[in-house]
Amino acid sequence: MAEWVEVARVSDIPSSTTKRVEVRGLALALFNLDGQFFALEDTCPRDEGSLSQGDLFGDLVQCPVEACKYELATGHCITFDARVQAFEVKVEGAAVKVKLD
Ligand code: FES
Repeated sequence: MAEWVEVARVSDIPSSTTKRVEVRGLALALFNLDGQFFALEDTCPRDEGSLSQGDLFGDLVQCPVEACKYELATGHCITFDARVQAFEVKVEGAAVKVKLD
């Protein structure tokens, strides 16, 4: 059953920054876009680039290896045929929580 799991504190991820966390064997890239938080699987499926090391372009993150641009909200790559898993995120008090199976 899916449950909300705290993965970071809000103060860990200032606006326009990214943080990599590992939780339950998953590597996640967390993004703060002007106070709106997103979570994607961190590892790009094309050649294992770490999306938490990528640059932000609006609501897209660019993989640092081959420049695939992923939508933060969906995990869909707009430049190649690729996708990473996107997770629901919510903020409760000072906690950033992700919905995990
Ligand atoms: S490893 Fe991400 S685009 Fe190639």
